[in-house]
Amino acid sequence: MAEPLLEVENLRTHFDTEDGRVQAVDGISFSVEHGEIFGVVGESGSGKSVTARSIMQLIESPPGVINADAIRFKGEDLLEKSPPEIREIRGGEISMIFQDPMTSLNPVMTVGEQIAEVARHHLDTSESSGFWSEMKRKYVTGASHESESWRRAIELMDMVGLPDPEQRAHEYPHQLSGGMRQRVMIAQALAGDPSLIVADEPTTALDVSVEAQILHELLELRDEFDVSVVLITHDLGVIHETCDRLAVMYAGELMEKGKTGDVFEDPKHPYTQALMKSIPQITDDREWLDVIPGSVPDLVDKPAGCPFRERCEYAFEGCTEPLVEYDVGEKHTAACHLHSDEVNKELTDRPAAPESHEGPSEQV
Ligand SMILES: Nc1ncnc2c1ncn2[C@@H]1O[C@H](COP(=O)(O)OP(=O)(O)O)[C@@H](O)[C@H]1O
Ligand code: SF4
Ligand SMILES: [Mg+2]
Repeated sequence: MAEPLLEVENLRTHFDTEDGRVQAVDGISFSVEHGEIFGVVGESGSGKSVTARSIMQLIESPPGVINADAIRFKGEDLLEKSPPEIREIRGGEISMIFQDPMTSLNPVMTVGEQIAEVARHHLDTSESSGFWSEMKRKYVTGASHESESWRRAIELMDMVGLPDPEQRAHEYPHQLSGGMRQRVMIAQALAGDPSLIVADEPTTALDVSVEAQILHELLELRDEFDVSVVLITHDLGVIHETCDRLAVMYAGELMEKGKTGDVFEDPKHPYTQALMKSIPQITDDREWLDVIPGSVPDLVDKPAGCPFRERCEYAFEGCTEPLVEYDVGEKHTAACHLHSDEVNKELTDRPAAPESHEGPSEQV
């Protein structure tokens, strides 16, 4: 079997703060296959963004420290790359899309130019890049809008579903709607011809119908560009619609991993089950994650054992032991002691490993 595109092994990222050590990501491992959309879902504060930023080495240090056994991309450990090598990979082989495009787009540059800039830098064009080269093209040689990179920008804007790309390319970010800006971000991410896009809540700020269109676009682009996507979201509905496999994250740890169909049909971890029960039937309620009683544990000086135990209806004494991932199906794991053979044997007078409930109804 071909090696995975991305392999994250035992990633741990902490921040040393005045209050103590915040263990934001606490020993997670997962892999992403070629052409796959891999979802990471969890409540706010569970460590999703820190995971994304750790892969891209975008954690400010100090206070942040990234540790991992390996973060392999195409078989090579990104942690062993030099800062210039990592910069080259970022925005090229691996690109990132954030929740709020306004924070990553340049407000005083046309969107076409911002996409062209990435194309120019990462593709093998003979055009020089950078501000002064651009100014020269614009005002001295006048070649800016006939350049190969500009044509590529228009083409990409068209591909991600921006209407009138020729005209829109001359506009500035503030002239576009939120959905259009996010499409610009996607076009910009594609301009470096990436193999992997890490998308951190890319549709969270958008209304439901625009969100659905953009997710649909992402699925089409995956087929067209053969790109893999790590899709980070707090919304299980988004995962259900889009992802091939998923990981459920809680308090910096992965609770359950598996194929989307398997996890939705038969969630094996009490946390995943609680999340699924809390999905509202009326799909316009976006606050569904708040329905689980209790709150995420404090990540400062985090205690050992299962981080969900304060909220778990199945918790027992053994839950203070460090978590282990148990195989619960084909390529399906759950980090919950109820799935250990030993515990199951002993628990004759307790509920056995939790039964799944019926899958959710239609999601957004
Ligand atoms: N620069 C930082 N300094 C201290 N703590 C941080 C920093 N960045 C993130 N954290 C903490 O890491 C935890 C995970 O955050 P984050 O990855 O943003 O969560 P999510 O994206 O799942 O909502 C949170 O408790 C957050 O407060
Ligand atoms: S390990 Fe214990 S507390 Fe954690 S999910 Fe399983 S039963 Fe619940
Ligand atoms: Mg986040």
